[in-house]
Amino acid sequence: MSYERSVSADPHEFSPETVWEVQMPAIRVGAGAAGELGYQLDQLGTTGDQRGLIVTDENLVSLGHVERIVDELDADGFDVDVFANTEREPSISAVEACIEFVREEMGDAGYDFYLGLGGGSCMDTAKATRAVVANEGELLDYVAAPTGAGEALTQSGAPLILLPTTAGTGSEISPVAILSVPEKNIKEGISSPHVRADAAVLDPTLTTTLPPDLTAKTAMDALGHAIEGYTTHRYDDLLRAEDPAERPVYAGRTGFTEMLSEKAIELLSSNVRRVVNNGDDIEARGAMLKGALFGAIAGLTAGASLAHAMAYPVGNNYHTYHGETIAALTPASTLGYNVASDPPRFEKVAKMLGADTTGMSTREAADEARKEFVSLQRDLNVLPSGLNELAGITADDVGGLAESTVESQQRLLRCNPRPVTKEDVEEIFSDALHNWE
Ligand SMILES: [Fe+2]
Repeated sequence: MSYERSVSADPHEFSPETVWEVQMPAIRVGAGAAGELGYQLDQLGTTGDQRGLIVTDENLVSLGHVERIVDELDADGFDVDVFANTEREPSISAVEACIEFVREEMGDAGYDFYLGLGGGSCMDTAKATRAVVANEGELLDYVAAPTGAGEALTQSGAPLILLPTTAGTGSEISPVAILSVPEKNIKEGISSPHVRADAAVLDPTLTTTLPPDLTAKTAMDALGHAIEGYTTHRYDDLLRAEDPAERPVYAGRTGFTEMLSEKAIELLSSNVRRVVNNGDDIEARGAMLKGALFGAIAGLTAGASLAHAMAYPVGNNYHTYHGETIAALTPASTLGYNVASDPPRFEKVAKMLGADTTGMSTREAADEARKEFVSLQRDLNVLPSGLNELAGITADDVGGLAESTVESQQRLLRCNPRPVTKEDVEEIFSDALHNWE
């Protein structure tokens, strides 16, 4: 396993990173924020009489959210088309269909603006479509090798605004669009600052229709981003980047990301029971959206780690939802194996999750984070008790899963605060089969 750019460099050559940065779209948050889309588009330089595209799915059309946004834009003089054929965990061909739709309707120049309305799948489809139309050519030109040609994007294109209807994925602020390659059972991405949206509009009234199980699953993903970001290595544990363009996307935690993680863990863990039990609780839905946003900025800047690395092979092979996979893996990985990397830090996580650690040693208190997280999951009553209940995974499967994690997820494993071998990953998978009986 390679640890280049890590603390294991020769101490005589070690020159720590001294610079950090945060990149994000313009962000508008709160009940009614979606009603200000016309103003938002004006701010991005798009004026009325322009034609835009809403990328969404059939479910959001039938729930009435799409009509509401179309009416809002119509009242402000914008003309919009709707592409509602987005797939869950979109495949390359599903995104190609959206690009094709744009070119058929508007020619190579594409639309004057784009909106992605929905969960991570709709937002990622919108991001990839806008990027490919702006840069010309085909989707596969820009998908990471070996699936695609891995060409660099050079243009951002027409304005893109994302409106999440779940609170979890963080796609609204991330520079990545994830695409599935069903014939290879893998996921690939297009990753570039040009993929990031220009604006994110987080309106809790768009999230009230999310059913309890998806609410809980996306919340676990959001908590994963916040906790993984809070417990990963520091930015100055890395070697200084000679060229700013070489600085990694997952650059380690900073005082800024820690502050966001802390607020995210608190908001998410104290409101998730409310939204799962009463989806119409706008105040709690708003808190969840904010928690997910803060967690995403923290986690996706500092870096996700072990649970996310292990989640990809599980999702690819068993077609599970990302959030429920993170839910099943987090106790054994982030809050199990990784605790030894920094017990005082995990003691803080335990307290943020609501644990009473009075009279405990630091290590005992750190271990409470896992117990508190599992007890939260059990209260929600819609999450799997581990990988076995999630997808029928047994002890016979953990060797293969560990192998594909180590083979394909070095980018994330390198961010893990505690070094991991294939044998470690195998043990963690075994530990994650049953989080409770
Ligand atoms: Fe995630």
